[in-house]
Amino acid sequence: MTIDNENDLAKLREISQIVFETLHLMRRHLRAGVTTAELDKIGAEHLARYGARSAPILMYDFPGHTCISVNNEAAHGIPGNRVVEPGDVVNIDVSAELGGYFGDTGATFTIDPVPPRIEYLCQVTKKSLKAAMKAARAGARVNQIGQAIERTARQAGFKTIRDLGSHGIGRSLHEDPHFIPNFHDQKDRRILEEGQVITIEPFLSTGSESTTTAADGWTLLTEPGNYSAQYEYTMVITRSHPIVLTTRRAA
Ligand code: CO
Ligand code: CO
Repeated sequence: MTIDNENDLAKLREISQIVFETLHLMRRHLRAGVTTAELDKIGAEHLARYGARSAPILMYDFPGHTCISVNNEAAHGIPGNRVVEPGDVVNIDVSAELGGYFGDTGATFTIDPVPPRIEYLCQVTKKSLKAAMKAARAGARVNQIGQAIERTARQAGFKTIRDLGSHGIGRSLHEDPHFIPNFHDQKDRRILEEGQVITIEPFLSTGSESTTTAADGWTLLTEPGNYSAQYEYTMVITRSHPIVLTTRRAA
């Protein structure tokens, strides 16, 4: 959506802050020994406290309130009785709706000990999000987002997952501009507009460039032994730096 009044901005901020808090509450409980279902329950209860509805359930009938993807699962992992173990790389993605507005945020966390290369993957993925945000301003091409992500990944020797991407958001979880790739698509002529609400969510990996759907019908897998990282913010495009909505609530 494109924001055209203060009420839109306030409502988007509200749900975005709720998903941010939910993600970080789950993170505080993330440790070896916890199950992904236990984490999901913590997230579900926090969303319910605000009357927010899980977007994956609302939109797609997803079998979980949040997506929790471990190791070579890149995205849309189903919470369940899987026990988090030392060395695991865990992505938590929280999206939800309140009063007809949607917010979406995600982050990848490591459970010690993990190899330095995996920590580096996480750092570089965060860096690629920053680089993409710098490029994302009104009047710029949508493909400058992917260009910044791809460039940052390549410089560090990592790949980007080409079939996952960022997206417009606001009145729905996924809306125009649909699918903003993690690479520079030269044929993409779309231009970013002032007030447009989008996510930026780079997916970087140690080797895989695409995903396949697991037998459960949901989980998006990379190759065995591959690791990926994703960080996601919901933001508003402006003439200068985007306004990040999925941040801590102002006091
Ligand atoms: Co997300
Ligand atoms: Co998203």
